[in-house]
Amino acid sequence: MLCLRSRTEPEWLERAIGHTNEILIDHAHCERKAASQALAMLARYPDRPELVAPLLALAREELEHFELVLAILHQRQVPMDSQAPSGYQAALHAVVRKGMPEKLIDLLLIAALIEARSCERFKLLADHHPDPVLAKAFRSLLESEARHHAVFVRLAEAYQDRVAVQTRLQQLAEHERQVLEQLPPMPRIHA
Ligand SMILES: [Fe+2]
Ligand SMILES: [Fe+2]
Repeated sequence: MLCLRSRTEPEWLERAIGHTNEILIDHAHCERKAASQALAMLARYPDRPELVAPLLALAREELEHFELVLAILHQRQVPMDSQAPSGYQAALHAVVRKGMPEKLIDLLLIAALIEARSCERFKLLADHHPDPVLAKAFRSLLESEARHHAVFVRLAEAYQDRVAVQTRLQQLAEHERQVLEQLPPMPRIHA
């Protein structure tokens, strides 16, 4: 349903649980980036009114998630900090096609895949993190990240027929699998 081409290995979960604070800092950045990237898409394509309502709603939800993760960090007395990016997003965006509507479709489908991977990994943390407060927080995010995945795919389908979009989604999902495989292990949601 989430169209990912690989399942996260147990090593990732071990690393994430062993570096919970770094994962939470990264997670906070992910939520903030998700909100700002949705707004950036509206800025880049102001002539696409069909994007406005779904992306505004999504940005609002991601900001709420950002607030939630910041509150968890505060509660744990972990200061928010900058972090070196894992390279995941840059590598995903390296294959974005030029020209319209291909570029916009690729941006939407990559956003969908990032949501799918977050969702898959939040589920692992919800099921296995030893801190019940954190497990519950991750569980509370699952449903909206899965919904965001679907929103991005549906938006892409507004620009090309469903079969073409699904074919491209499969190609990008394969690319995402390879990107993750090649990244050095880091305590990140997407690494
Ligand atoms: Fe989120
Ligand atoms: Fe999301």
